[in-house]
Amino acid sequence: MKKQRLDNINQLHRKKLEEHFREEILLVFGGGDIESKIVLVGEAPGRTEVEQGKPFVGQAGKNLEEFINILGISREDLYITNVVKFRPVRYNPDTGRESNRTPNKDEIRISTDFIEQELSIINPELVVSLGNIALKCILKDDKATIGILHGSPIDVKFAGTEFVLFPLYHPASIIYNRALKDVYLQDLHKLRNFMKKIKLI
Ligand code: URA
Repeated sequence: MKKQRLDNINQLHRKKLEEHFREEILLVFGGGDIESKIVLVGEAPGRTEVEQGKPFVGQAGKNLEEFINILGISREDLYITNVVKFRPVRYNPDTGRESNRTPNKDEIRISTDFIEQELSIINPELVVSLGNIALKCILKDDKATIGILHGSPIDVKFAGTEFVLFPLYHPASIIYNRALKDVYLQDLHKLRNFMKKIKLI
């Protein structure tokens, strides 16, 4: 039932994106346990995710997995998705190479009603946002920043779906800023205590 509903909205989303961008697009939809009470929401897939058709399987995914283990759960126990389902790229004409970039406002806007429907179908109790893009999208507040809101739960009603949002830094930010790792670990311990309190672990 949930699976069927997810498949339906995935198809509609693909159609809408292809009409909007007027080309075929490689998409990475959410995956994992669709009955999970815990959802992780990232930003957008990177190259490895598009190659494998699964969210968070590249370097950011390796970091994420290490952190999930600290919570005493495994990624199979979660549903994992991204705000934007395609890989936003920057093209370098000198090298001919494409690199990842942050999704722009138009890309986030066209993806938002889809993640709203996706979360309403999964109906989680806890959503862990990873980084600024997911935080701003779920709070519907462009001024929200992870530097201020990380590590504390927030009650949210997201397009009619109620859950607790727990904002974390994006796992990729640790790759570029090792100093954040201690903060990240503290936030994970807070998250673990919170999950125990609401009896999710
Ligand atoms: N970063 C994200 O935000 N999502 C992925 O799936 C991979 C890297």
